Amino acid sequence: MNFPPDFLWGAATSSYQVEGAVAEDGRAPSIWDTFTAERGIDSGAVACDHYHRWPADADLMAGLGMNAYRFSLAWPRIVPAGTGPVNPAGLAHYDRMIDGLLERGITPVPTLYHWDLPQALEDRGGWKSRETAEAFAAYTEVCLDAFGDRVPTWLTVNEPWVVSVLGYRLGLHAPGERDLRTSVLVAHHLLLAHGLAMGRIRERRPDARAGIPLSLYPTYPLSEADAEAAWGSDGYTNRWFLDPVLRGKYPADMVALFERLVGPLDFVRPGDLDVIGTRSDLLGVNYYTRRRVAAAPQDGLPWKVLRAEEGVPRTESGWEDVPGAFHDLLVRLHRDYGIPLLITENGGVWNAEPDATGRVRDTGRAHALRRHLLALSGAMDEGARVLGYLHWSLLDNLEWAEGYAQRFGLVHVDRATQERRVKDSARYYARVIAANAVVDLQEDE
Ligand code: FCB
Repeated sequence: MNFPPDFLWGAATSSYQVEGAVAEDGRAPSIWDTFTAERGIDSGAVACDHYHRWPADADLMAGLGMNAYRFSLAWPRIVPAGTGPVNPAGLAHYDRMIDGLLERGITPVPTLYHWDLPQALEDRGGWKSRETAEAFAAYTEVCLDAFGDRVPTWLTVNEPWVVSVLGYRLGLHAPGERDLRTSVLVAHHLLLAHGLAMGRIRERRPDARAGIPLSLYPTYPLSEADAEAAWGSDGYTNRWFLDPVLRGKYPADMVALFERLVGPLDFVRPGDLDVIGTRSDLLGVNYYTRRRVAAAPQDGLPWKVLRAEEGVPRTESGWEDVPGAFHDLLVRLHRDYGIPLLITENGGVWNAEPDATGRVRDTGRAHALRRHLLALSGAMDEGARVLGYLHWSLLDNLEWAEGYAQRFGLVHVDRATQERRVKDSARYYARVIAANAVVDLQEDE
């Protein structure tokens, strides 16, 4: 099958993971600068130096035939204190980059927020404060006024589940808190931020299309007896975000559960769900792996997420590599929500290093890419409307708290020299893009 002629083919990154240049041109610290310093872990201080090297990286993308690039705008570059004065040098950077992409035939797909909250806002409560959602709306206006004339597709808040759960319940991401109620509160404010931003996009750019990128995990019960537990876990990671955004209401089963666990959700104010449910044009789908769930309490929740199943292929970070679950997810999203989908992330860790000739044989990634694209095209055959596929990631970059040890890139980055090497997977991807169809792998791919 051929993909539609206007299908977006590209790759994704985010500002803190690739840019570096954290103290340049008026950028102020973000919560990830603080968090990585406090924990003494790898930081984005240099990352892939994409802040300076974006022209060469854009040349690489164009050379691979990509027609879209998902990147994120760094709030601490554009409005360094979170609210108040706009930093012209921050705007100028993205202004040049957007023009540079367009000159190369690459559609910019910016994400407004990919986790680098200005530290100044964190100091005033961060996402625990409703005011941060208002600040985000004001920052969104600045971005729209600066780039709206050239950006056809906007993404709002990346993966509110990951932010709220890893950042506020499990303490694994910035700002490193551990409290269930706080994480539900933060999720609400992130969703509110999304809804407010959607309203501003609608007002200022009625012609643009926009939506939220969610991390979605197809969830399967271990046995029939675990079906209710699996539905609960699905409610926790998937429906808690899908339903308010696409149906304007929180799922009743989860409201009941959260109220039992953490008390009244009194931070949800009248009218909030209308804002959060502002009509979206698309849903961003970030898919990596599935979840298997059993009915046993774990970490204060009434279900247990199981470890990877024996015998199932895994990426090198241990995630199950299961393209069939991607297919199931897309079909389900189409069936339950009927909205156009944009694959905003999909990929995995394969840590291949250059061989003596400089070739990077990341065979695992090339194979996974092909099988996920087949799953995607199968879901499209079954009716799912998919606007494009943006692979995570263009470059080996800072995998948040995991640091640089996990390589997700189509393009290898030498940490010492910043040298880029196009991996085998990227060459395969270029052939797919050229054919606009899922071509076979060659013998040595
Ligand atoms: C997602 C993030 C992205 C990247 C991938 C591997 O949760 O959105 O920044 O780290 O995981």
